[in-house]
Amino acid sequence: MLAAYAIQANSDDPLAALEVGDRPEPEAPDGWATVTVRAASLNHHDLWSLRGVGLSEDRLPMILGCDAAGVDEEGSEVIVHSVISTPDWRGDETLDPKRTLLSELHPGTLAERVAVPRRNLVPKPESLSFEEGACLPTAWLTAYRMLFVKAAAQPGQTVLVQGAGGGVATAAIALGRHAGLRVWATSRDEDKRAAAKELGADEAFETGARLPERVDAVLETVGEATWKHSLRALKPGGVLVVSGATSGQAPSAELQRMFFLQLRVLGSTMGTRDELAQLVRMLDLSGVRPRIDRVLPLRDARAGFAAMAEGSLVGKVVFTP
Ligand SMILES: NC(=O)c1ccc[n+]([C@@H]2O[C@H](COP(=O)([O-])OP(=O)(O)OC[C@H]3O[C@@H](n4cnc5c(N)ncnc54)[C@H](OP(=O)(O)O)[C@@H]3O)[C@@H](O)[C@H]2O)c1
Repeated sequence: MLAAYAIQANSDDPLAALEVGDRPEPEAPDGWATVTVRAASLNHHDLWSLRGVGLSEDRLPMILGCDAAGVDEEGSEVIVHSVISTPDWRGDETLDPKRTLLSELHPGTLAERVAVPRRNLVPKPESLSFEEGACLPTAWLTAYRMLFVKAAAQPGQTVLVQGAGGGVATAAIALGRHAGLRVWATSRDEDKRAAAKELGADEAFETGARLPERVDAVLETVGEATWKHSLRALKPGGVLVVSGATSGQAPSAELQRMFFLQLRVLGSTMGTRDELAQLVRMLDLSGVRPRIDRVLPLRDARAGFAAMAEGSLVGKVVFTP
């Protein structure tokens, strides 16, 4: 079957580690289902995998991709939850120390078919297209958990979203807007700031710009380049939720500011299957939809990876097998 997969780890030139071609069919052990992929979306995670982050050489070649929507063997339309916990794990799957994401241990979703534990399937409502459904399991689920579970943001509060063009960031802007938050976003790029406002941001600022007032919560996926600004943007007692460090992971911790203003810094990773089901329901009820930058045939996956590596996207890249 056709798939996009990693053949090596290349930290300097991740695209050189990417191959699009034929791979064996996935195997579905007892309790697993094979999903015919109708759409799969790209995440920064896939670029990290090509760089060798979180994907060791002994697991290569590895089909990339965490996110998919498709049809199971019974003909049901499903969205795939990407967090694979150990079979006897109960409760929050993201807290299982042995959990992996699709494409880390088991072959991923950038393929014609993918095998996943049956319990990882969430029904896709008719109101969502396969392309929209495929955007949800990583970027949108991560944004949902950061905003509503970790930051526990309340309507009327102000939340700052760093790096407005990203998959997680565009999701956070749209979800926050719908939930009645005042959403402020930052981006390095003027066009992306305009796009952030179209998505529902009340204001969009240049990266690092002084804000009109301090905010209740900051959602951080950029890392080193925006960390200082994130901490300075918070009100006393405010919360910074971090789930990514695209630009580097060793900023000054600003400890004095953190304790003096009693700031809370919370890590967040993906979300549970139940949170994915809630997110799907929220989109079904609200009409909020993922911003899709482009849809490409899977055989042209390289172009999507290149656009993400360049940082030119606003929203998600979707591949159709
Ligand atoms: N922990 C988890 O479960 C989880 C889940 C999803 C994602 N992540 C991580 O979160 C990060 C974002 O993921 P994504 O899929 O949303 O990636 P993405 O779509 O590639 O977005 C990255 C965004 O970061 C901003 N950015 C990058 N470098 C920057 C710099 N030097 N200065 C300022 N802004 C910069 C850019 O925003 P502008 O161009 O608008 O400034 C860009 O749009 C990745 O590191 C990813 O691995 C973690």
